[in-house]
Amino acid sequence: MRKALKWLGRLLAAVLVLLVVVLLAAYGLSERRMAKVYRIDPPAPAVPADAAAIERGSHIAAIRGCKDCHGADLGGATFIDDPLFARLSGTNLTSGGPGGKLSDADRVRAIRHGVAPDGRPLLFMPAQEFSHLGDQDMGDLLAYLHSVPAVERTPPPNRVGPLGRVLFVAGKVPLLPAEIVDHTVQRSAPPPAGPTAAYGAYLAAACAGCHGKGFSGGHIPGTPPDWPDAANLTPDPSGLVSWSEADLKKALRDGVAPGGRVLKTDYMPVRVTKYLTDEEIGALYAYLHSLPAKPRGQH
Ligand code: HEC
Ligand code: HEC
Repeated sequence: MRKALKWLGRLLAAVLVLLVVVLLAAYGLSERRMAKVYRIDPPAPAVPADAAAIERGSHIAAIRGCKDCHGADLGGATFIDDPLFARLSGTNLTSGGPGGKLSDADRVRAIRHGVAPDGRPLLFMPAQEFSHLGDQDMGDLLAYLHSVPAVERTPPPNRVGPLGRVLFVAGKVPLLPAEIVDHTVQRSAPPPAGPTAAYGAYLAAACAGCHGKGFSGGHIPGTPPDWPDAANLTPDPSGLVSWSEADLKKALRDGVAPGGRVLKTDYMPVRVTKYLTDEEIGALYAYLHSLPAKPRGQH
């Protein structure tokens, strides 16, 4: 009995040592990557100041998720708060917070590259979804950022917990989008806005982070195991093959799929997609139906 207890003690001690080693390695490796300096000097596009541009910019901020992570008033919002994983807030982007001190070049560096003015890679700011944004959309977005009223609010500082770091160094969570953005990409003008598959592809970059590059869904990278899989959006029997455009509209606006199935809107961000216009939904529909059909979960 005594011997068995002694062995158990040794086993526990070994497990504990291993855990400490893994955590130390995860902290060391992640700190190094977070401290890397990216030297990027992006040109800032022309910024219009008319009311129509500001309105378009506000719409872009709604459908691209800026308002979801930075708050509906852009005054900053906490969107993940888990002691083990991370506590992350979108910065206050108004003149009442740090965002007000940014130049337009700083804003473009953050939005297209995921990099702070001092060259630090921003945490979880999904620049990979925005790096292809065209100059006109970027100009409208900046016009809108100039126009938002000051909000005096300071979200708590960001921190990444032990599990977040282990998942990050294991390659499971894209914590530093600056690492995956192609910083040298030659940006071509986006397709003209309209209900076309080409314009749908431009908009669908906002869906790929969860539904996968090939849009066939599956487990969303970096999310806990109890998260539902993202759905298959390709025209496959396990996907949207039988969906009409009206079905897609109802799902994106009301969170209800054909047959009255209610979508899990804590995960599928209907709070963001409900702002898509009819024309934008038409474009997404044309694009998704032009994709090669794939079985569910191939990403
Ligand atoms: C998934 C959540 C998320 C979305 C969506 C998002 N952001 Fe962010 N953003 C963040 C976080 C978190 C930070 C702060 C990161 C840090 O400080 O390391 C940030 C930082 C920024 C910064 C830099 C602020 C500074 O002080 O350096 C700007 C500018 C910015 N975001 C603009 C935008 C715009 C514009 C959009 C929409 C096109 C957007 N963000 C969408 C999470 C998000
Ligand atoms: C934050 C992750 C996330 C983003 C971003 C996202 N989705 Fe989803 N989506 C999900 C999840 C998870 C489900 C499954 C929900 C469920 O099981 O109820 C889903 C389900 C759906 C469905 C329902 C399909 C079905 O058969 O039930 C459609 C349609 C859809 N998404 C379209 C989109 C489009 C279009 C975009 C981009 C404009 C998008 N999603 C962006 C996570 C996401």
